[in-house]
Amino acid sequence: MKAKAIQIQQHGGPEEMKLVEVEVGDPGPDEVRIRHHAIGINFIDIYYRSGLYPLPLPHGIGSEGAGVIEAAGSNVKFLKEGDRVAYPQSPVGSYADVRVMPAATVLRLPANLGFEQAAAMMLKGLTVQYLFRQTYRLQGNETILFHAAAGGVGLIACQWARALGVKLIGTVSSPEKAALAKKHGAWETIDYSKENFVERVKQLTGGARVPVVYDGVGKDTWEGSLDCLQPRGLMVSFGNASGPVTGVNLGILAAKGSLYLTRPTLGTYSVPRKRLEESAAEMFDLIGRGKIKIEIDQRYPLAEATRAHAELASRKTTGSSVLLP
Ligand SMILES: NC(=O)c1ccc[n+]([C@@H]2O[C@H](COP(=O)([O-])OP(=O)(O)OC[C@H]3O[C@@H](n4cnc5c(N)ncnc54)[C@H](OP(=O)(O)O)[C@@H]3O)[C@@H](O)[C@H]2O)c1
Repeated sequence: MKAKAIQIQQHGGPEEMKLVEVEVGDPGPDEVRIRHHAIGINFIDIYYRSGLYPLPLPHGIGSEGAGVIEAAGSNVKFLKEGDRVAYPQSPVGSYADVRVMPAATVLRLPANLGFEQAAAMMLKGLTVQYLFRQTYRLQGNETILFHAAAGGVGLIACQWARALGVKLIGTVSSPEKAALAKKHGAWETIDYSKENFVERVKQLTGGARVPVVYDGVGKDTWEGSLDCLQPRGLMVSFGNASGPVTGVNLGILAAKGSLYLTRPTLGTYSVPRKRLEESAAEMFDLIGRGKIKIEIDQRYPLAEATRAHAELASRKTTGSSVLLP
């Protein structure tokens, strides 16, 4: 059957993404074919498109999606035709109306979750789950620093922190983004486009600083983030929105107080499948109890992926964005 999909022929800017027609076959024994109702947009899609994370070309784009199973392979026992499903990550290529993919990362949706919400939160919400509950297991009495708090991952993090009783200090680049982060549960915000966030974190914590920093901004905040940590604190560098952190001299961790550093990925926290199911169950429970609401602040037709990427990269978006096939 024919499907519509976004493809890149070469790495580069948003304009490299073209809507093309592709052939989609039947699923193999361990695969499912999904008809998407909504597709999540993530900053990682920009890294794949630009070539920061290189792909063999030509290639599709996109990690996250939600829809209905049209066909399931003979070995797939936990999903069947007609199931409402979503997935956080997969072989890259979710910007399509129909696709075939391995069943291993596909989860059945609770009845109370719509496709748009699901597409907007599987990758982002499961990222917050592993950051807050596995990488550094927050207990509820911590004050933490979280960069880009009004973004897709950020607004989920604000709400998850509030649900845990954690005081989240969120960085943002405008008063509007500050208000949004606060509304979603940030304890305090810092406009890092104007203020020195290291000094503000020291002030807000009475000089104590924080036990953990979650940094998805990368290059621009790397060194300041280390300065916000208590001795033996944990730096969680989980993204590169401003560019990747490179050329690190390990001595910096000694000089700034025997710091710990991790560069985690959702992929390594999603195996085996049982772990993924447990993380998703915790997230679905918080959503079911109204502790977390998924803000979809931008919706685009599939054919306008180019505009979607340009807006995300230029810091014009808040919360989550979805593509609609
Ligand atoms: N490792 C993992 O498992 C994992 C999983 C999911 C996401 N991530 C990472 O988490 C981060 C957030 O992802 P997201 O999809 O939710 O994106 P997002 O936060 O909605 O968008 C990125 C935000 O980063 C901030 N930013 C700071 N400097 C920037 C710059 N030079 N250019 C563009 N943006 C800049 C902007 O917020 P302000 O305007 O407020 O500064 C922007 O809105 C990304 O780095 C992503 O790669 C990592």
